[in-house]
Amino acid sequence: LDKYCVFGNPIAQSRSPFIHHAFAVATNKKISYQAKFVELGEFTSAIQTFIKEGGKGANVTAPFKEEALRIADHLTERARLAGAVNTLTIKDGKIYGDNTDGEGLVQDLIRNNIILENSRILLLGAGGAAKGVILPLLSQSPKSITIANRTLSKASELCQQFNNDKLFSCELTEESAQPFDIIINATSASLSGQTFTLSSSIIASHTACYDMVYGKAKTPFILWAEKHSANKKLDGLGMLVGQAAESFQLWHSTKPEVDPVINKLRQSLK
Ligand code: ATR
Repeated sequence: LDKYCVFGNPIAQSRSPFIHHAFAVATNKKISYQAKFVELGEFTSAIQTFIKEGGKGANVTAPFKEEALRIADHLTERARLAGAVNTLTIKDGKIYGDNTDGEGLVQDLIRNNIILENSRILLLGAGGAAKGVILPLLSQSPKSITIANRTLSKASELCQQFNNDKLFSCELTEESAQPFDIIINATSASLSGQTFTLSSSIIASHTACYDMVYGKAKTPFILWAEKHSANKKLDGLGMLVGQAAESFQLWHSTKPEVDPVINKLRQSLK
């Protein structure tokens, strides 16, 4: 069996083995896909061991995505600009690093009939999660992407780094003369049980709201979107399955269907 793996710390919560096995069954592939806990500081040696054991590909999750970027021999443009790698492919002893997170988000937005072309997008947050989706979102030809962050300087730095005239920055609480078409929450606030206040001027009944976080309970951002009767209120479960589907395609050259797996995972959250 070809060996695949996801590396992280913690890792017990990872749905990747479930998702990749489901994709493999659906596409008639026989694979082994394990979750591996890695001690901090031991990521590089864990990957070396995995390569020696004949590993073909690996997903990388927190907190090793930046380290994965550093150990790759080759990087895709989207991984380089994300500053992080979530997918490693081992070929002829060389490590190829890619990042499928942003494409996973884009595919999930498209799957939910959200039109990105010419849209005005508000991206909340300027950390790793936000950075990873900027290039894939830009590639869908939006009118603009405004990065709103609690710490304004981090949003401005991202704009400078990407150097694209469609990118703007502002503070998280800033008002807007015109509501946005799409608001994407890429902050980690809800993961630590925190909330933040947003201006009601940024949202209207046509707005699609997307939280990259998912869970059993609705996130504060989704509740806020409901309160303002937003057109769409989506959580990040589809992005999770979407990034896995992109990784699966890189490794197995076939694109699995995401809907059955999203539905199964949604059931298991209940
Ligand atoms: P990740 O990799 O999940 O993006 P990160 O790089 O630590 O994690 O970034 C976290 C993001 O969530 C940042 O944009 C952070 O805002 P700051 O740059 O101002 O720190 C944002 N964030 C975290 N907690 C928040 C809170 N309580 N309110 C608003 N923004 C928050």
